[in-house]
Amino acid sequence: MNKVSFVPHSPQSLSSVGLVSMKVAVIGLGYLGATTAVALSLVGHDLIGIDPDQAKVDALRAGRVPFFEPGLDEALAQAQSTGRLAIQAEHTCTSADVDVFLLCVGTPQSRSGMGADLRYLESSIDDLAPYLRADAIVVGKSTVPVGTAEALKGRLATLVAFEPYLSWNPEFLREGTALKDTLTPDRIVIGVDEPHSEALLRQLYQPMADLDIPIVKVDSKTAELVKVAANSFLATKISFINAMAEISEQVGADAVLLAEAIGYDERIGNKFLKTGIGFGGGCLPKDIRAFQACAADLGLEQSVSFLAQVEDINMRRRTRVLDIAREELGDLTNRRVAMLGAAFKPETDDIRDSPAMAVAELLWAAGAHVVVHDPKAVDNVRRMYPNLTVADTLEEAVAHAELVVVGTEWRDYALADSAVLGHLAANKLVIDGRNVLPYRQWQANGWKVIALGRNLEHNPVEVLV
Ligand SMILES: NC(=O)c1ccc[n+]([C@@H]2O[C@H](COP(=O)([O-])OP(=O)(O)OC[C@H]3O[C@@H](n4cnc5c(N)ncnc54)[C@H](O)[C@@H]3O)[C@@H](O)[C@H]2O)c1
Repeated sequence: MNKVSFVPHSPQSLSSVGLVSMKVAVIGLGYLGATTAVALSLVGHDLIGIDPDQAKVDALRAGRVPFFEPGLDEALAQAQSTGRLAIQAEHTCTSADVDVFLLCVGTPQSRSGMGADLRYLESSIDDLAPYLRADAIVVGKSTVPVGTAEALKGRLATLVAFEPYLSWNPEFLREGTALKDTLTPDRIVIGVDEPHSEALLRQLYQPMADLDIPIVKVDSKTAELVKVAANSFLATKISFINAMAEISEQVGADAVLLAEAIGYDERIGNKFLKTGIGFGGGCLPKDIRAFQACAADLGLEQSVSFLAQVEDINMRRRTRVLDIAREELGDLTNRRVAMLGAAFKPETDDIRDSPAMAVAELLWAAGAHVVVHDPKAVDNVRRMYPNLTVADTLEEAVAHAELVVVGTEWRDYALADSAVLGHLAANKLVIDGRNVLPYRQWQANGWKVIALGRNLEHNPVEVLV
């Protein structure tokens, strides 16, 4: 470990003067790992990023982030210019110098059930074991079922000739603001069961602690639970307001205004109370499923049985769009539908478990000719949904459409010229699945606007992004 004096010239102005630089290996360079590796090298640590995906390694080495994340390209270039970020496809002898191994590999839903597939974590443990020094620590950042740290530590102990250190440090970054969330998180949770890991993790995060970012020290099991509890709470909040939307639609009330009204109560708060086609992405859906599977394994399925309803509500919002489309157009066979948005949320190209893509698939399965547009995610759509047509521009998507559906709340859609789009569409009908359109302007241009959970007739209030 070397003393360095590095003040990154990034907007975050993390001051790392006097930081004791550590040698850190980030294992897995996806959305989480690539951001973590870049951020930690920017604050002054010496990073090795390892991922077996050669295409990802080649891209990162060439200074290209292999996914869209605002600001990360520039930050990668800055990190590479410091000479403190090496990217490679496998461990080399330099791994023997590593003080902290951060596990950032995927934990997708298992193919055979709702539980998490931990095979990538297991193989990353097997890969690093030959290089692990007795005083180095292994730290999991991936989202996992409670008990994973203990199991991985047991696995590692069979591969090395000493008692290994293994702890958990769950990650809360959000795609779209990942770099900021990593450099200046709301809090850092370190789940440690002995003082050595705690000391090294506090040293790793010294630049953040210097900014008074809270470091919450817990045991490793609590740390594993913190992350799934946080995601379960967020998913529940979204499904709660979407349940209110279901009821509002039935009785002619307006769930967007309801959300505003209850959100002023600071015990409730107005964040994550947006009605629409629900949550998705590479984390929330699989994490609440894995939590249910984990609880069932513990004989505690009742403790989180509400999560099954949270997911049911979420899925019903997707089919609600199909129902509205049928109510409006009748048989959907060969009807042209423009799906505006593919990413699970704006400012990312991530389409894993995306509500917009789920709706697109439902419409396609009902016979519609679905044309998808997204400002950043079209390459992923082309790769993963060869059955759907992809448009490179918003205008191309809307041209000749009999129905337009807003599936992702990109600003481009909120700011789109509804008069121009009205001339291009075959039928001026739009379902706003994200409540982002300035609907009065759209109506003034002749569009019929159906906004999920809203009663536009009786509540003429615009909700603008
Ligand atoms: N994406 C997010 O916003 C986010 C936020 C918080 C937590 N997480 C959690 O972080 C973990 C990773 O998520 P992600 O979105 O970055 O996934 P991802 O699929 O984008 O990246 C995972 C990476 O791990 C690599 N990998 C697989 N096996 C490996 C091995 N043996 N050694 C090294 N690398 C290996 C893959 O090639 C891939 O690049 C998950 O547990 C996720 O739940 C993600």
